Amino acid sequence: VGDTMTTTTSKPVPVDPSALSDSDLSLDFLRVVEQAGIACAHTMGQGDRHKSDQVAVEAMRQEMDSVPIDGTIVIGESERDEAPMVYIGEKVGVAHGVTGPYPQVDIAVDPLEGTNLCATGAPNALAVLAASESGGLLHAPDIYMEKLVVGPSARDVVDLDAPVRFNLRAIAQANSRRVEDLVVIVLDRPRHAKLIDEIRASGARIRLIGDGDLSAGIAAAVVGSGVHAVMGTGGAPEGVLTAAAMRCLGGEIYARLVVNSPEHEQRCHAMGITDISRIYRSKDLASGANIVFAATGVTDGTLMKGVRFFGDGIRTTSLVMQTHPHRIRFIDSIHVQAKGPTAKIRF
Ligand code: FBP
Repeated sequence: VGDTMTTTTSKPVPVDPSALSDSDLSLDFLRVVEQAGIACAHTMGQGDRHKSDQVAVEAMRQEMDSVPIDGTIVIGESERDEAPMVYIGEKVGVAHGVTGPYPQVDIAVDPLEGTNLCATGAPNALAVLAASESGGLLHAPDIYMEKLVVGPSARDVVDLDAPVRFNLRAIAQANSRRVEDLVVIVLDRPRHAKLIDEIRASGARIRLIGDGDLSAGIAAAVVGSGVHAVMGTGGAPEGVLTAAAMRCLGGEIYARLVVNSPEHEQRCHAMGITDISRIYRSKDLASGANIVFAATGVTDGTLMKGVRFFGDGIRTTSLVMQTHPHRIRFIDSIHVQAKGPTAKIRF
């Protein structure tokens, strides 16, 4: 893991489309999340989560069409919303409407993960995208999903159906520490009252968060972040994006869709999911051989700083990860806006 400093001023030209692994499409996807992050960061703290989301969606959609791919959105705006852009099935990329030698890529997006976090200026709002070769990301409906996310050392020692105290003991052992030393992130929701009681009873520490279980999952997979697990129920689309991040980071998500009505069941079937009680792991949710994950910090967070505006430019920090070549990059970009040699770049 290294730091890379980039300054960006121009758009790329199409590259040899042999595969996600060969070209640096990851840097094209970086542009996409940077632009979404910058757009919604302008609305930080304005108290209008819908506006924040809308500008992120628009910026992401616009930037996506300069990426040299024949892309299809497989996770986007809710499949029930009839959204005008980044909806499931939408074609994106420069190959949109053109026959050309571009790689076919499936794309999962969350242009603004944590709409409330951005609207209130709270930490850990992100602009996020994951990509894979065709068929490499589960088409998940926008319903809830039970999740258990752990880092690399505990990836094979937990069980979604095991009692909470069992999993916490296993995670503690795998991390060579006491249960009392663990930090577990849980979304602060009434539905988690029993889970929170059980974690407290085991002695582990809890960080309750208002939103953003995706960034919490990423933190759990990074040694030294001070987070050891994420437990509880959150959005299924965020679960697939978390799985893509886990594929790159070596952590693990165990997950099961929460299907509690015939309507949910029908939506699962419509997306090709027949076994609705299946427990998925990262490799099932994000099965592609070539996974790319890119996220830009919108507000300050555990792993990335939020977007900073400084007159002559904009500074963003992002996480860009790939399975092939397997690499994880923290990218600090200055988007120079002032013209001429007098631009003042701040560090
Ligand atoms: P948004 O970005 O759509 O606001 O979702 C944020 C989030 O907190 C996710 O991180 C999480 O998976 C989900 O919402 C939880 O849903 P709910 O708010 O209904 O409990």
